[in-house]
Amino acid sequence: MTASRRTTRRSSPEGGRSRDLALVLAGRTWLEGKIRSIEIGIDEEGTIRAIGRSLQGAPRHDVGESLLLPSATDLHVHFRDPGRESEPEDFATGTLQAALGGVGLVADMPNTRPRVDTLDRLRAKEARVQGRALVDVLLYAAATPRAPIDLLARRAGAFKLYLSPTTDVDEVPTSADLDLLLKRVAATNLPLSVHAENPDRFDREIEPANPPDWNRVRPVDAERAAVDSLRRRPRSLRLHVAHVTDATIAGRLRKEGDSFEATPHHLLLSMRSGDGAKFKVNPPLRSERQRRALWEAFVRGAVPCLASDHAPHSPDEKQRPFPLAPSGMPNVETMLPLLLARVRAGDLPLPVLLAAACDRPARWIGQPRGRIAIGHRADLLVVDFRERRTIAARGLHAPCGWTAFEGWEGIFPREHYLRGRRIVEGGEFVGDPDGTIVRPEFAPDRSAPQPRSITE
Ligand code: DOR
Ligand code: ZN
Repeated sequence: MTASRRTTRRSSPEGGRSRDLALVLAGRTWLEGKIRSIEIGIDEEGTIRAIGRSLQGAPRHDVGESLLLPSATDLHVHFRDPGRESEPEDFATGTLQAALGGVGLVADMPNTRPRVDTLDRLRAKEARVQGRALVDVLLYAAATPRAPIDLLARRAGAFKLYLSPTTDVDEVPTSADLDLLLKRVAATNLPLSVHAENPDRFDREIEPANPPDWNRVRPVDAERAAVDSLRRRPRSLRLHVAHVTDATIAGRLRKEGDSFEATPHHLLLSMRSGDGAKFKVNPPLRSERQRRALWEAFVRGAVPCLASDHAPHSPDEKQRPFPLAPSGMPNVETMLPLLLARVRAGDLPLPVLLAAACDRPARWIGQPRGRIAIGHRADLLVVDFRERRTIAARGLHAPCGWTAFEGWEGIFPREHYLRGRRIVEGGEFVGDPDGTIVRPEFAPDRSAPQPRSITE
């Protein structure tokens, strides 16, 4: 399966010191403004130890004309494990899709059944990851007024706060509870992702029949009001706003220095892209004009993170009458391939995509990954831009069996390395279930190691 891992001692000209390399990957990458040849030396632990034009002495795998890129980190997935019978997703199936879609680390949301709001429930979820996950996993705990925040912070990787009802979330904090909750989370130093919609701004008079109606029920104004309510937070809080749909809100968050994400569906689809409940998501798909403004902000590099909000609802549930159908769509396998296809089409600069999909999400959760840099994890993809594929649900691996991106073009990684071990080869999974649970290793931009990066 993997190249042999015999360790060879050699001196690496650009790594500066003699290191034991277990594998050298040779190919091309984005370097100082253009595509150049590169060799990456990886040690036995799966850390990048040398970067150069010609590294010798260790088993070498040459990927030829293909690109070597860092794997993505997806800050927002719902793997429903433990979950409902109707959704046959779990950590094994979810992380398989991640591996094949070029995502080496997923952050799993706490709105499972039961919700992850006690230490026992968090431990129970950890047990489901171990021995099953094919890529690394970070677990969110639910930040609710009654949750034991300090206890949860000892094991969780981050917190998630819902300011509005959504799938398996009925209760949200009152405005009085919110201030205290934000203070308690800030004191833990763990990052906090927020679902920012204010339900007071929802229009409950409308009986929604299609995505444009859904956009009127849960308007952008509700997002704006929720983001406003976060202004009173402690400055030390490591805040991240999930699925921002509007470029003006994005601009404001950026000015304030907060982290946030946009999803592939809000970047690529509008409320007119499809009629049925498959296109029902929270927050809703917006107008084509708003979508285009968000896309333009993304292309300019003004959206720090890309995240899938992978929500694998069953086709039966999605076929219910629109008002009763659940919100969300599967996306973890297609997120990076869809955006790599936009790079190939010349619509999106590759370094912008790498920053949003790989580097910045990893920084927000304090993980040394997401760049081809010494000291970073050797989680790497081999991508050939000539290998275009038409996305079809039957060629994907989501047990729910549908995608809103049927017929779109995707560029899927040909190989995926996790800690220097090949887990995907020729688009097939060839690894083992040895994904690990990760937590922040450093606070972003403070004690973060400053590896010498070649893909910034
Ligand atoms: O569309 C969504 N689906 N938005 C959410 O906030 C939750 C998610 C889910 O869990 O299904
Ligand atoms: Zn979500």
